[in-house]
Amino acid sequence: MSTQTPDTETDTDAEAEAETEQPASTSPQQRRMAKKRARREQRERDAAEAATEIEGETVELKVFRYDPEIEGKEEPRFDSFAVPFEKGMTVLDALIYARDEYDSSLTFRHSCRQAVCGSDAFFVNGRQRLGCQTQIADLDAPVRVEPLPHQDVVKDLVVEMDHFYDQMEAVDPFFDPDDLPEGELEEQRQDRQNREKIKLSTRCIWCGACMSSCNIAAGDNKYLGPAAINKAYRFYMDEREGEQKRRERLEIIEQEHGVWRCQTQFSCTNVCPKDIPLTEHIQELKREAVKQNLKFW
Ligand code: FES
Repeated sequence: MSTQTPDTETDTDAEAEAETEQPASTSPQQRRMAKKRARREQRERDAAEAATEIEGETVELKVFRYDPEIEGKEEPRFDSFAVPFEKGMTVLDALIYARDEYDSSLTFRHSCRQAVCGSDAFFVNGRQRLGCQTQIADLDAPVRVEPLPHQDVVKDLVVEMDHFYDQMEAVDPFFDPDDLPEGELEEQRQDRQNREKIKLSTRCIWCGACMSSCNIAAGDNKYLGPAAINKAYRFYMDEREGEQKRRERLEIIEQEHGVWRCQTQFSCTNVCPKDIPLTEHIQELKREAVKQNLKFW
């Protein structure tokens, strides 16, 4: 169906600027986040310029189509739609326009339209992105929209998410403290430092973009995948997690198809729409697994 291209974003002036602005005491994660932020700001500036240039023009949208239930539509194909561009238009806006104005059978998921629900992850111009977060002005024309790679297509841009949800469930994504807090409905507090540590991992919106970008997950159906491991990280690193559950969780993630499968390709980190340092979280859990398994005689 579609072939993936690696994210080939290279260092830009904005990144170099971000780097020089960083005090030497910042962590690698903070430096990487600053670079990513600088890239995004640069993209936004470019998009604003491009939007001014193409305002009033028509954008060509090439959308993957496939419907196994309708005769004559079982063969995958691309349909083109001419969408009048408006400043601020996102890929999701363009898809909605195409569906409402040209073909009401065009099928895709969406809900919140503000990068919160995670339902509209697509493969846009060769990269996993959220439709509602991606500006048309930021993309080369024609804008090509495909379903997420490495997932079964149900219809048009809708992919099967059951496997993804199964992997998320496999890491027991819930708290299981050893002791319940004293008193009824007592609040369990977390210190500021610990909150900072897990903050980025809590941003996951279950969109599946990371899993779809991961070559290892594509070749190993049992691999937990970056999203599920990040979810395990979120609870494992939380000081409110119970010791017993922490041990069990480590066993889950260090199994054959767990953290050791990751080959640090960074594709998941590169496509995450919420800027979660997924690869770093996986590496941290690998170190944790080694530490916990060290034995001294
Ligand atoms: Fe909810 Fe885009 S529509 S994340």
